[in-house]
Amino acid sequence: MSQETLFAEPEVTISTSALYKEIIAAYEAEEAKVEVESVFGKVTYASPVNFRESMLSPRHRWFPYKEGFSPSFVQSFLKDHAPRAVQNVLDPFGGVGTTLIESSRLGLNAFGFEVSPMSHFIASTKAAGFDALDLVSLDAIVEDFQQSELQLVAPSPENDTVISYFEPAYLSALLRLKAFYIALENPKVSALFKLAFLNCLERYSTHRKAGNGVKRKTKFAYAGSPESPIEQIRNTVLNDLRVFRKDLAQEPAVKPFQLTLGSCLDESLYPDGIQFDAVLTSPPYANCFDYSKIYMVELWLGDFFLDKSSQKEFRAQSLRSHVHARWADRHTTYGSELINNQVFEFLSTQKLWSNQIPSMLAGYFADMGYLLHLLSSRCSPGAPIGLVVGNSYYGSLPIATDLILSMLGRQHGFEPIKISVYRNVVVSSQQFTRATDRKYMRESLVILKKK
Ligand SMILES: C[S@@+](CC[C@H](N)C(=O)[O-])C[C@H]1O[C@@H](n2cnc3c(N)ncnc32)[C@H](O)[C@@H]1O
Repeated sequence: MSQETLFAEPEVTISTSALYKEIIAAYEAEEAKVEVESVFGKVTYASPVNFRESMLSPRHRWFPYKEGFSPSFVQSFLKDHAPRAVQNVLDPFGGVGTTLIESSRLGLNAFGFEVSPMSHFIASTKAAGFDALDLVSLDAIVEDFQQSELQLVAPSPENDTVISYFEPAYLSALLRLKAFYIALENPKVSALFKLAFLNCLERYSTHRKAGNGVKRKTKFAYAGSPESPIEQIRNTVLNDLRVFRKDLAQEPAVKPFQLTLGSCLDESLYPDGIQFDAVLTSPPYANCFDYSKIYMVELWLGDFFLDKSSQKEFRAQSLRSHVHARWADRHTTYGSELINNQVFEFLSTQKLWSNQIPSMLAGYFADMGYLLHLLSSRCSPGAPIGLVVGNSYYGSLPIATDLILSMLGRQHGFEPIKISVYRNVVVSSQQFTRATDRKYMRESLVILKKK
């Protein structure tokens, strides 16, 4: 998860109220029950829950999903915490498939859910099996692409904001590339071209992903090139395809997995009769990061969103981790008492940048509690559950998501085993003056065990 989005709270009044002390005391009481260990023992920005390693790993490097795990983290979690006969692994927030691909590589049966059609597409494309004939077909199409005049142009997306994020000549070149891959008859090769197309979008846009949204770039790396927009984009795509091809030649297939496009909170989507022997996941953090905004350009230009209702649907199905949508109350009885009572009351007296934050937090933990409830009847006894989360900070109060999930786990049939802190975030701002504030600003792996 990118660091800049972790602790977003501009205005803070330091509180010493009794309610504040009560909340911190509840955190401390939980810390007395569950071991909290610092994995690196020092403040660090590097972390195994960081996508940098993925950009060097075959298949994972096909798309830079900054919110993703590193492959070695998945492997070591499964080796360290699931040494017994593990067969079925679940990642309820599957993202671009790091857990699924790594579990498959270990010969396990991997299952997952993902609400974003874009992430679902990326994970599925990264897992493609290519035999010798497929590679011949890929090579032939790449050769055609090199020669093609790219005369056909795909229609522009029905979203003026997305269109405004490109200079017209670059948008036109991108839409020519899109027309090329849409016309391909081989679906596997078309998907590889589409992935390369998605990879081009931020690079040739006037905007870049930043914090919780997009910002206009100050430097346009593409503008200094002597090549035309079409040639620049063609060369970028060809470079990507060379990388994909190299990885496919080395590892023609990964064991197929079952990644369902839909919410892990939808009980009807769970496979019948499957017990999960290990769960490893990273839910969106309670930090107001809205995936439908950050990946807006990719979602629209990749035809994952065709109209405004697709974005609405996507948000409605997502975990309640931001304030850009209103969700009807759901799973209220599965949430956290501490959040619903003390934290809600405390935050109602604070100056917050959005008055939706207390109900977002109540909704976030109600959703996570409900997920744990669903998992408790679908996990085999002793199954380890790994939840990678970042804590947040609102209105002078740290929200210790890791400790609250440990409490929720106990409530829903799990034994909290350990909280491994992977990253403490260094904050120089004067607002973080108390030891408690600094201590809880961290990203951790919460480990629970099914009783
Ligand atoms: C932190 S990312 C997970 C990244 C993943 N570990 C990887 O390596 O690719 C969280 C993901 O959860 C997805 N998500 C949000 N709400 C969801 C829900 N209710 N069910 C399934 N996926 C959801 C988001 O679209 C996002 O891709």
